Amino acid sequence: MEKFLHALLPFIFFLLRFTSRCCSSEHETYSRPPARNIIFSPHHGLQSAAQQVHVSLAGRDHMRVTWITDDKHAPSIVEYGKQPGTYSAEVTGNHTSYRYFFYSSGKIHHVKIGPLEPGTVYYYRCGGSGPELSFKTPPATFPLEFVVIGDLGQTEWTNSTLTHASSRDYDVFLLPGDLSYADTNQPLWDSFGRLVERHASQRPWMVTEGNHEIEILPIIQPHGFKAYNARWLMPYEESNSSSNLYYSFNVAGAHVIMLGSYTDFDENSDQYRWLEADLSSIDRKKTPWVIVLLHAPWYNTNNAHQGEGESMRKAMEELLYKARVDAVFAGHVHAYERFTRIYDNKVDPCGPVYITIGDGGNREGLALTFKNPASPLSLYREASFGHGRLRMLDETRAHWSWHRNNDSNSFSADEVWLDSLSTSAACWPFEGEKEPPESIADDEL
Ligand SMILES: [Fe+2]
Repeated sequence: MEKFLHALLPFIFFLLRFTSRCCSSEHETYSRPPARNIIFSPHHGLQSAAQQVHVSLAGRDHMRVTWITDDKHAPSIVEYGKQPGTYSAEVTGNHTSYRYFFYSSGKIHHVKIGPLEPGTVYYYRCGGSGPELSFKTPPATFPLEFVVIGDLGQTEWTNSTLTHASSRDYDVFLLPGDLSYADTNQPLWDSFGRLVERHASQRPWMVTEGNHEIEILPIIQPHGFKAYNARWLMPYEESNSSSNLYYSFNVAGAHVIMLGSYTDFDENSDQYRWLEADLSSIDRKKTPWVIVLLHAPWYNTNNAHQGEGESMRKAMEELLYKARVDAVFAGHVHAYERFTRIYDNKVDPCGPVYITIGDGGNREGLALTFKNPASPLSLYREASFGHGRLRMLDETRAHWSWHRNNDSNSFSADEVWLDSLSTSAACWPFEGEKEPPESIADDEL
């Protein structure tokens, strides 16, 4: 049977490539620039050595440490403390592994540690030996700074983007889908994990899935997200979600919602019901800022991927609008674009700001052409590799900036000040469905 399946593999890959082309709604005139080289990052260490280490937020005051060992007997232990070389706590966690066609993953360790103090550097070691690493927990209060990068991949551009983003401190890394571009070639997931470890082991990386995470192979691998779910476990249980494909978390004064563009989202779906409940549980006095990340953009004037987020927009836009979500970040389109506040294709001062930030640096290159004439909803658009930074200064003011890889990080190619809708008297209450936050005085209404 295995020989038979092996013989079928080239045919299956051809089918997959053909399918992805025929189903893309890219404009005919859109042509990708030459790809940059993939950086393959091999592992030269011991079988028991922790590799591909990354950390993520895992509920109030906790972090999850994830790493992989080739050794299936390596322990799932994290030792940590606030002084280098001195570990005051030790936690044993869980592990998993998966098979994908002929590929068998290493042992994937997930260890949730805490409670941890905010704004504190912790030193830690995975598996009871090996090198010491460190991460910094996010602050408990403002200011709070996010780095936002979509469609990252593992090329020379990826390295450039990550180095650029890390040249200035930040608290939490947000990735709205398309991580490794392994595209069923599983060793590339391992290579991606090694490439990003330098960054992802130091600050929490919070990700949601893109189309490149699906990795369905007809007959052989009928269920999607096998590698993604095993490797990038996000706090879905901690946020009352039933799926790793959508979840939320609080950090300082922000509520961040990660949605799934490639799982059901219609009003009868689990994701829809979860989103409805999650939005209604937000306390804007505690988290005045609410932002959403998803992969396929709802608003997009690039010629690439036109209309691919439209059915999700139609299903869920009203929920986000009524909840007065401040901003929605998407990837998928390999370019940068910033829109005004929008609801249902019209300028609306109570709608979210929409931003596409799919220019992290993957092997497919940039989406170079935009539709003309430009929509008045679109305020800035450019096809260059780069990253975004969202700095929330306090309950009401935030600064968004977009930085090209080819500029100094101190230079913002695009920037805008945002006011949180939580304190916008004109936007509350909405048809009597939601009480305004207490922070708005009655005489302002
Ligand atoms: Fe994508």
